[in-house]
Amino acid sequence: MSELNKIALKIISNGKGILAADESNGTMTKRLDAVNVNSTPENRLSFREILFSSEGMKDCIGGVILYDETINQTLDSGKKIPDLISSSGAVPGIKVDTGAKNLANSLEEKITEGLDGLRERLKKYYNLGARFTKWRGVYSITEKYPSKLAISSNAHALARYSALVQESGMVPIVEPEVLMDGDHSADICLKKTSEVLKKCFEELTLHKVDLSGIILKPNMILPGNLCKKKISSEEVSLKTLECLKESVPNEVPGIAFLSGGQSEIEATENLNVINKNNNTNFIMTYSYGRALQQSALKIWSKDTKDTKTTQNTFNHRAKMCTLAAQGKWSSELENK
Ligand code: 13P
Repeated sequence: MSELNKIALKIISNGKGILAADESNGTMTKRLDAVNVNSTPENRLSFREILFSSEGMKDCIGGVILYDETINQTLDSGKKIPDLISSSGAVPGIKVDTGAKNLANSLEEKITEGLDGLRERLKKYYNLGARFTKWRGVYSITEKYPSKLAISSNAHALARYSALVQESGMVPIVEPEVLMDGDHSADICLKKTSEVLKKCFEELTLHKVDLSGIILKPNMILPGNLCKKKISSEEVSLKTLECLKESVPNEVPGIAFLSGGQSEIEATENLNVINKNNNTNFIMTYSYGRALQQSALKIWSKDTKDTKTTQNTFNHRAKMCTLAAQGKWSSELENK
């Protein structure tokens, strides 16, 4: 077993999942504005410290994705954030892309940037304690999109990123996110997501990336948020499994879904049914941002000194997701 494969398995085994707390300052400001909290470095750190030091980290969270600001922050106690995360048994990770920009010659689409100087930045993050990284490519669905150009250029960037990350001794999370915005059906989402994933693996293979040392972070197969025809969790799970089975090579150890705008309960229930029906060799878990933090953030914003209630809320969410990652969740447990 390679070192990278060991790190990947440490992050996602035994029902553990990933806490995606890597919102850029811009995104975190939107989240904090929505609950009427000032977006200062101190407040951003304070909320994240509460999550990272909660009980739920130990049994549920195998990895935490950080943003550049957070990985460099120090607590009042003098402790570094990566040390706080490691002390709960989780692996510290870092978002290394620098965001999605308009794609030249297809300006309604995005290309993710951040390759320039990446090798040097990776060295710095490794020395700060990071052992895995994240890069998100983003694709929208319309009649003409995603275009071949967006599919191919984002796959190329994800592959070059992954090769550099593995060279630096870390596990790349490969995140091609096909957005749920729009009125498309789940079948269109399946078709487009398959195209996106196949191209990503074609490029990863070309760039000689060790597939046993990556974690794939895809979207689930869902109808667009404006589509009139809703589908059941059973259908979501079958379509998601069909897509992953035909598009993801067997060497990949695990798949950690993004929540992508689903509610906390939807993201939990869909993951649970995916695991009940999982007829693949892949570990299927979560790498949720909003679906792990939304309720906790709301509670915290009401009384930022009430660490305990905020932590209880987060612990519950993390426990539900970890049950779902083993196909053991139920709505009754949700309300206990
Ligand atoms: P969501 O679960 O909120 O979609 O965030 C996951 C993530 O890391 C997006 O890049």
